[in-house]
Amino acid sequence: MPKRWSKKWSGQLSNSDTPTLALMSAMQEELSCILERLQATPVQVGSRTYWQAQWMGQPVVAVLSRIGKVAAATTASCLIEHFGATQLVFSGVAGSLDDRVQVGDVVIASELMQHDMDASPLFPKYQIPLTQKSLFTTNELLTQELKSAAVQCQQEIGSNMQTQGMWDLLGLANKKIGLHEGLILSGDQFISSAKKSEALKLSLPQALAVEMECAAVAQVCDDYGVPFAAFRIISDKANDTAHLDFEKFIQTVAAPFGAHVIEAFISNRAGSR
Ligand code: ADE
Repeated sequence: MPKRWSKKWSGQLSNSDTPTLALMSAMQEELSCILERLQATPVQVGSRTYWQAQWMGQPVVAVLSRIGKVAAATTASCLIEHFGATQLVFSGVAGSLDDRVQVGDVVIASELMQHDMDASPLFPKYQIPLTQKSLFTTNELLTQELKSAAVQCQQEIGSNMQTQGMWDLLGLANKKIGLHEGLILSGDQFISSAKKSEALKLSLPQALAVEMECAAVAQVCDDYGVPFAAFRIISDKANDTAHLDFEKFIQTVAAPFGAHVIEAFISNRAGSR
């Protein structure tokens, strides 16, 4: 049974020298692939189970945020407030909004924006009221570390994963995974029509991908001054076929690959301490 969080919890896995890294995912398959690599202790707070562990000597807390901006934002707040997380990293899937960004590619967020925020005419469209901000920038160092880990995994992918059926199914068997860095959009909508994705592309042409959580987590991290980074594996083209094979893609490609990147990220940090 997961432990219930109480005010007596002392944060015994963190100390002032080593940052407590929070790992967030929106889908159970993604979290499960991370948890397979850890010996973690579950702690229940509200309706979330937070998994605390030492991973290669580093304090981590992994959690399923669930889907959508509110779910992700409350989870991020809890990670910071109750678990003392000092760095947050989000991994998951996204729909592509750019023809150069293919299914199976990785997009690392340099900036995040909530595409469904519109309090106009009181505030400019996309601006988070009373913050003067529309764009949230990810932490440069964390993002660089994620990028290095993704490049490492990109090189290994041929031997590890391309043999799996899903890559063949998607025609990705001999394709080198593309790595991109740029703007990711979040909103409380699964974009599954060409009409919607074309509208997003027209309004925000610099966006590479769309998902449902990270810009909300970025806003929370900005509020608390906590470094945040995120990457997404492209599962679909955010069009009328976006939902097809979505679950299977997450299970067989995105979740194992995402966890592989996180593991490389942690391992690189362990090596550099
Ligand atoms: N996550 C993965 N694909 C997505 C899409 N098409 N829209 C929103 N979130 C997504």
